[in-house]
Amino acid sequence: MSKDMKDIVSLCKRRGFIFPASDIYGGLNGFWDYGPLGTELKNNLRDRWWKDMVITPPIGPDGNPIEIVGVDSSIIQNPKCWEASGHVGGFNDPMVDCKASKKRYRADHVVVYQTLEVLEPNICFAFDKDTEEEEVHKRIVKFLKKKGLASTTGHVKFTKTGTLLDYYDPKTLALSEKSNFDISLVLGPDASDVGTLTAPKTFNMMFHTFVGATAGDENKAYLRPETCAGIFLNFKNVVDSSRVKVPFGIAQVGKAFRNEVTPRNFIFRSREFEQMELEWFCAEEDVPMWFDFWVEQRTNFWLSLGLPKESLHFLKVPKDDLAHYSSRTIDVEYKFPFADPDFDELEGIAHRGCFDLTQHQEFSGQKLEYLDPVAQKKFMPHVIEPSTGLTRGVLALLCEAYTVDENRPSGVYMNFTPAMAPKKAAILPLTAKEDHVPTAQKLYMDLREEFVVDLDIKQNIGKRYARQDEIGTPYCFTIDNETATDHSVTVRERNTMSQERIALDKVKDFLREKIKG
Ligand code: GAP
Repeated sequence: MSKDMKDIVSLCKRRGFIFPASDIYGGLNGFWDYGPLGTELKNNLRDRWWKDMVITPPIGPDGNPIEIVGVDSSIIQNPKCWEASGHVGGFNDPMVDCKASKKRYRADHVVVYQTLEVLEPNICFAFDKDTEEEEVHKRIVKFLKKKGLASTTGHVKFTKTGTLLDYYDPKTLALSEKSNFDISLVLGPDASDVGTLTAPKTFNMMFHTFVGATAGDENKAYLRPETCAGIFLNFKNVVDSSRVKVPFGIAQVGKAFRNEVTPRNFIFRSREFEQMELEWFCAEEDVPMWFDFWVEQRTNFWLSLGLPKESLHFLKVPKDDLAHYSSRTIDVEYKFPFADPDFDELEGIAHRGCFDLTQHQEFSGQKLEYLDPVAQKKFMPHVIEPSTGLTRGVLALLCEAYTVDENRPSGVYMNFTPAMAPKKAAILPLTAKEDHVPTAQKLYMDLREEFVVDLDIKQNIGKRYARQDEIGTPYCFTIDNETATDHSVTVRERNTMSQERIALDKVKDFLREKIKG
């Protein structure tokens, strides 16, 4: 059954995964807060990534563990860093404004339709790229009827001609010469008449602030738009202070900020988000081997967290769409419900060449070459970068876990793997009777040092199971009358709702085993 983003967003709020930021003030577009369960889920994903990268990095092609160290760099860096990285000059999105609705759109996210019957003048219709065709048809007919341009039969044939940006040169934003396109004849996505859209303009996506008491250009600084810059800036510090040798990696998890023109799809594209980035430094000739290695490692990572193979897709990013620093990128895409039956980006694995170190060397005047201790020669390492959104990963886990099941009271359960589940187990005394509660409390005290567990005492047991299903708790341990006599508890498994009895003193081993597996 297809999943509806509205239902997922609603469960996230109802159960305390994710809330709109500044909710009581009506929110702030593109910003989100993580509630008690969302924070646990995000931490689980972050910790698992950190463990797989830094604590127990993968075994390399030579059979030995590869070497990766972590850093935690500042969000605000010397602004020269962003000139060197190309972000001050080039981190731009093409955007159009609507003079009537005051809304702003990304030109490459606005789809243009034309009617097949020739209209005088040649009007085009612009829609957000996610608009359903039925909606497109309805709005076109309504507009044409209003203008007396359509018959009253209520049917108009139309065709999609591409995005607004397709009519312009993506680099210069000049109207392409071949095209007889006229922006003044376009009906904007939220406009009631044509001619309200501006031509595309570039818009720098970095948030800026001022460091210190005066707010002049000389004090302007930026919030980092990607976490990797702090890794490149510390490359020399790490090499000089640690015993790392190329090939090796530096990993970082942290906040990044982009003033996205159109934040959308819940936490998929937000203005403040978290990234988990690895910069893998290697010799240029070894790039093809390490690139394949990282694609395989990262695929296995997502599979192990419960994203099925058929919901993943690997996009070889076309040359024209590559970021300015990359000569080759593969995007790991996931079948997010809003993209279904297509896929959208979850992680990018890019060959960044030696672009960043070379640029920072030039702009800082500091030598950043690596001295090979064996060959005694200096060279600029090349970089493979598996870069993923932590918050976007959380969205993928939430979407994958959301499972409709009309045969249970909650009507839905969250099918997290035990390792990712925010709560590993719930301890439920069958009744609030005296002899059930103390045993439950004792079990809770025993488990909580090792696992995130819930002790839930009040309400009927059915309602408590329903709540645990909705928050994705894989196991519920119920203490009942039999517990006092045979020292056993009922364990209820979330997905099958099957119940079995296990010894009270085996609960810990049971959980350890399940979480590991
Ligand atoms: N250092 C390379 C880099 O930042 P990117 O493709 O722009 O590359 C990497 O971003 C990942 O960060 C994306 O695959 C996505 O998971 C996440 N990401 C990027 N922009 C985002 C946004 N506005 N909101 C949430 N996640 C975002």
